Amino acid sequence: MSTPDEIIRREIAERGVLPFARFMELALYCPNSGYYETEKDNPGRRGDFYTSVSVGELFGQLLAFQFSEWLEELILSRVTRHSSLCLVEAGAHDGRLAADILKWLQAHRSELFAQLEYCILEPSLRRQAWQQATLKNFSQRVRWLSRFNDSTLQRFNGVIFSNELLDAFPVHRFGWDPANKTWFEWGVAFEGGKFVWAKFENPEFRGPNSELEDVLPDGYTIETCPAAGHWWREAANILERGRLLTIDYGLASDELFSPGRTRGTLRAYSRHHVTDDLLANPGEQDLTAHVNFSAIQAAGESCGLKTENFSTQAQFLTRIAGKIFKHPESFGEWGAKQNRQFQTLTHPEHLGRAFRVLVQSRLNS
Ligand SMILES: C[S@@+](CC[C@H](N)C(=O)[O-])C[C@H]1O[C@@H](n2cnc3c(N)ncnc32)[C@H](O)[C@@H]1O
Repeated sequence: MSTPDEIIRREIAERGVLPFARFMELALYCPNSGYYETEKDNPGRRGDFYTSVSVGELFGQLLAFQFSEWLEELILSRVTRHSSLCLVEAGAHDGRLAADILKWLQAHRSELFAQLEYCILEPSLRRQAWQQATLKNFSQRVRWLSRFNDSTLQRFNGVIFSNELLDAFPVHRFGWDPANKTWFEWGVAFEGGKFVWAKFENPEFRGPNSELEDVLPDGYTIETCPAAGHWWREAANILERGRLLTIDYGLASDELFSPGRTRGTLRAYSRHHVTDDLLANPGEQDLTAHVNFSAIQAAGESCGLKTENFSTQAQFLTRIAGKIFKHPESFGEWGAKQNRQFQTLTHPEHLGRAFRVLVQSRLNS
């Protein structure tokens, strides 16, 4: 079995400098040995990526509470037959969030649970197997799809959602050259026994904002993620009625493309720590970049979706908790453990501010 390191070196030898997006794709996803393909990357074990799901089951329970409200609204508005209601999760990794959501729905919304199908969108057979093991008690309710553009697929009524999916998609990296007033793309070459950055021209890239270019410093760096916009449009088009939601590290365009943010947002994580070398040990460290939420919002709106919410995770979860506190009997236990988890999920220094939530909807025909 080839490692990402070997595959990337082979591609560079055949094709020359590789766009960073291809390096990132191979490092994270190459079959059997990419970072997200290897068993040791299960969150909490090697522990390189720590998400809201790792905090505990409250995150999934809060989402389940909100989803049940949205689904019941669809049922009441009679725009959909009960039997076709779906929750669709993408980027489910080991299935833990799905398990937290399904357990809560089974315990607290049994009628809805009985008529609901939970679909997991998962291109990797390896990860599907992890998810099947985690969700063995729910096998009657869960279905797997490898992609949205499956010809057998009906459009969905319900909620399509992901947590930290879009910020794990491969990004292109561009730098600004003030002397020549041009953007160049950062690629990856192999020299002196290691991967190194190499510039190449990409005339198709025009940059985010021509007025800013006069003040950008040499080497000012930004990322773009065409894969995220493409994925969001596919999800929007497959949604017949309901909501599309994502939770990710990210910012709006004007926050991302500011002269103060000179080195972009791409980060490598190894054992919970940011590491300096983005190109070191491909397949062994996590790579992630902030989502440009303005681009994602525009992608959904171009497919006819309406934007309902763009907020921090803290604001989004606090609104849900507010509804729960008005009717605590409708939620289940909320004690010291739940308080601790809620703090971590919403505190600005933990996960509350860096994570943003976008919700878009298609509710009328
Ligand atoms: C950072 S992890 C987040 C896992 C989980 N949602 C959580 O919050 O703990 C990103 C996950 O998205 C998966 N992924 C990447 N591209 C995907 C795609 N096109 N469709 C579905 N999952 C994908 C990765 O393999 C990985 O399991």
